[in-house]
Amino acid sequence: MHTFAVARAVHGIEPLVATEIRRSRLGVVRGLRHREVWFEATDEADLLSLRTADDVLLAGAVVDGIGPGRSALARLAEAARAVDAVRLARLGGGVRGSRGGLEVSASFVGRRNYTRFEIEDAVGAELARSLRVPYHSRSEGGRPPQEAMAWRVTIEGEQAVIASRLAGRPLHRRPYKTASIRGTLHPPVAAAMAKLARLDGAGTVLDPCCGAGTTLIEAHALAPHLRLLGFDHDPAALSAAAANARAALAGGPSAGDGGSPFGWGVADGGGIPVPDGGAERVLVNPPWGRQVPPRGMLAGDLGLLWREVRRVLAADGLAVALVHDDIPPGFALEEAVRVSLSGRHPVIAVLRKGRG
Ligand SMILES: C[S@@+](CC[C@H](N)C(=O)[O-])C[C@H]1O[C@@H](n2cnc3c(N)ncnc32)[C@H](O)[C@@H]1O
Repeated sequence: MHTFAVARAVHGIEPLVATEIRRSRLGVVRGLRHREVWFEATDEADLLSLRTADDVLLAGAVVDGIGPGRSALARLAEAARAVDAVRLARLGGGVRGSRGGLEVSASFVGRRNYTRFEIEDAVGAELARSLRVPYHSRSEGGRPPQEAMAWRVTIEGEQAVIASRLAGRPLHRRPYKTASIRGTLHPPVAAAMAKLARLDGAGTVLDPCCGAGTTLIEAHALAPHLRLLGFDHDPAALSAAAANARAALAGGPSAGDGGSPFGWGVADGGGIPVPDGGAERVLVNPPWGRQVPPRGMLAGDLGLLWREVRRVLAADGLAVALVHDDIPPGFALEEAVRVSLSGRHPVIAVLRKGRG
């Protein structure tokens, strides 16, 4: 039996998630919504291999006629009662549900005369009855236990979907990310940057402000043949990057020759220790001064970073950068994907060296 699945994503990268689903033959895409890609999953597909998605869910019901009025709550409860919750729980490794009970998290687009907590409680009570497990409500500020089976209700326009999470934790919470830093990048966005960088033809990929190493680790997951160079001004960030890379290598496919494909070093982005044209790809999420201040040479002028990126980028290379303001000078913009991240709307910019 084909399974109707929902991939959740950062707003802006839904089309990239759809492309990943198609290219990885995980299923047939049926449609895109705000932060969602709906698809018919291929039998036996490894849906947990999706890297650009935040989460993957199995849909139990699509419910039409969910307007802004409070009658929507009864309609959602009725739809939840009809969900084959036992089958979905089994597909999702159901044991979790019976041990930890279940929780529901709801979200919607547009104004409604009911709250997310009312949706959660209406749907949660019915699912819990079908599964004969306790329901953990958030409405009184409760915190469901970690092992609770996770369900989601999302509503856009007049259409709702009731779905259960396939894995024990969201896909964006990568097992390799054992160490973090302030301003570290959301891994599915780093994966989207790596996909946009078209890594197939590349040899060396550089991140001159690598922080906890997310961009390079995601690049490695897509293309294990790459040589990956990460620099940062902050030695603590590099320790985090090295620890995360070790965890990724321990949990992923082998690098081939037994040596690590990663190289890490303390360096200033205003003077990157790489020869001219030495990197085929640059992935970078620079210190914009919002969460992380630019330090060293970049403190006075972030333009020095772009001059260095231009210098080290191979003639036919690509730089993929998370850009908050203008497109950096000296580059030609090939593609721009605007994303919504923590209330901000930066652009993933795919850049080539401009002339001059
Ligand atoms: C937004 S964070 C990068 C986060 C990273 N992509 C990750 O996933 O963890 C920016 C990084 O730039 C570094 N940085 C600040 N000034 C720098 C400089 N002059 N040269 C190199 N790195 C610098 C910070 O230490 C920080 O790790």
